[in-house]
Amino acid sequence: MIDSAITVGSLSFANPVMTASGTAGHGAELAPYGDLARLGAVVVKSLAAYAWEGNPAPRVHPTAQGMINAVGLQGPGVEAWLRDDLPALAATGARVVASIWGRCVADYAAAAAQLADAGSSVVAVEVNLSCPNLEGRAGIFANDPVLSGEVMAATSVCRRPRWAKLSPNTDRLVDVAAAVQRSGAEAVTLVNTVLAMVIDPSTRRPALGNGGGGLSGRAIHPVAVRAVFDVHQAIPELPIVGVGGVADGWDAAELMLAGASAVQVGTATFADPRAPWKVLDSLLEWASGEGIRSLTELTGAAG
Ligand SMILES: Cc1cc2nc3c(=O)[nH]c(=O)nc-3n(C[C@H](O)[C@H](O)[C@H](O)COP(=O)(O)O)c2cc1C
Repeated sequence: MIDSAITVGSLSFANPVMTASGTAGHGAELAPYGDLARLGAVVVKSLAAYAWEGNPAPRVHPTAQGMINAVGLQGPGVEAWLRDDLPALAATGARVVASIWGRCVADYAAAAAQLADAGSSVVAVEVNLSCPNLEGRAGIFANDPVLSGEVMAATSVCRRPRWAKLSPNTDRLVDVAAAVQRSGAEAVTLVNTVLAMVIDPSTRRPALGNGGGGLSGRAIHPVAVRAVFDVHQAIPELPIVGVGGVADGWDAAELMLAGASAVQVGTATFADPRAPWKVLDSLLEWASGEGIRSLTELTGAAG
C-alpha cells in the first residue's frame, strides 16, 4: 500500500491530484464522472468580486498537443458563487480551493473579503495573478514581483491559506515566487497558460475573438516542469502545486520530481472528464511499480 497523503503548506490532502482552475467548472460539474471527494481538491474557476462577462467568442481553439483559450474569466462573482454553486460542490465532500482574480489590488482584496465567511469546505484560496493590471502600471500582475506581493498582502482578509498562481510568461519567475512568499503565500501554483495566438489563413484573422490567448495542454508540459524545477531549486522550502499538460501519472510524477507537492489537471479534462481520477490511478500504479511507499518521497527528488 502506498501512502498517497501529501501536504501543501499548512494543509493536508488525501492525495496530490487536483483539478485546475477554469477547467472543472464553478461547482459540481464533474460529479457525474467521478467522486469529487476522492480527489485531493477541486479548484474552481477564478471569481472576481463582481460578475464578469468574459471575452467575445470564439473563446477556445484546438492546437497541436493542446488548446488556446481566451475565455476572459467569465463568472458570476464570489457572492453569487457562494450562494448558487458552492453548496452542491460542498455536498459532494470535496475539499474546495476557491480561485480569485481582479483588475486592481482593491479588486483582489474585495474578492478575498467576500470569502472570509465561506464554510469549512473552502480550504484555501488560489490567487490568480495572471491577469492584466488596469491601474496605470501596465502589464500582468504576475510579471511584477512588487505588484504580486501587494496583491498577496491584500488578500489575507480571506482568513485561509493562500496560494499564488503564477505565469510562465516572465524570466523573473523566481523573483515573483520569492515576493509572494514574503507577502504571505503558503504555496505557489505553477503555471498558468503561455501567451499564444492562432491565425486562420483562410480568413486572415485570429482564431479567437480576443485575438491572442493562452496555450495549455501537453504542449506546455515541459514549460511547467522547468518552472517548477527552477523555483524549487531556488526556494526549496516554498511548496509548489504543479500544473501544465498533465494527462497521466507519468506527467504528474515528472512535476513532483521537479519539486511539486501536488499537481492539477486542466486541459486533459476537456478531452476526458474522468482525466483527474485517471491521473491519480496511474500515478499510484506507477509509484507502486517503483516501490515507492509515500508519494511525498517524489517531491524534488529529480537530480
Ligand atoms: C479554458 C481554460 C480556462 C482557464 N481558466 C482559468 C482561470 O479561470 N483561472 C486560472 O487561474 N487558470 C485558468 N486556466 C489555466 C489552467 O488552470 C492551467 O493553469 C493551464 O491551463 C495549464 O494546465 P493544463 O495544461 O493542464 O490545462 C484556464 C485554462 C483553460 C484551458
